[in-house]
Amino acid sequence: MSDSIKEKFKEILEYYDNNPFLSLIPILNFIQDEEGFISKDKIKEISKFLNIKENLIYETLTFYHFLSLEKKEKKTLYICKNISCLLEGAEEILEYLRENKDKLNFDFKECECIGLCDFAPAGLLDFKPLKNLSIEKIKELNEKI
Ligand code: FES
Repeated sequence: MSDSIKEKFKEILEYYDNNPFLSLIPILNFIQDEEGFISKDKIKEISKFLNIKENLIYETLTFYHFLSLEKKEKKTLYICKNISCLLEGAEEILEYLRENKDKLNFDFKECECIGLCDFAPAGLLDFKPLKNLSIEKIKELNEKI
């Protein structure tokens, strides 16, 4: 583990009163932001640093949509599939994405509410909020990427 990563882990751990379980998700988020995914080597390092079993770390990170065990080649578009977004057309967008999967310049995933219900249907493109989505907006987005 590099010194800068170790320092960041220590900083996060101290912020959470040296509680390894409270520090786990912030540390996973930090690695996800830095490296785009969380490798098996990083899981081992986190396990050793926090003294938390590797299988618990693995279970935690596979529970959350926004954490990934694999390095992604493309950006990921997350489409909210909760009630406000479904009522405003998220299912039609998802159907379009499923039917045109081979033509897309990004990956896509369904996700739970992202707190943009007032702007439904909503999504995130690598965590950048996308509001009032439509199939036309998705087509434009695909051309820009
Ligand atoms: S229901 Fe889609 S953002 Fe909340």
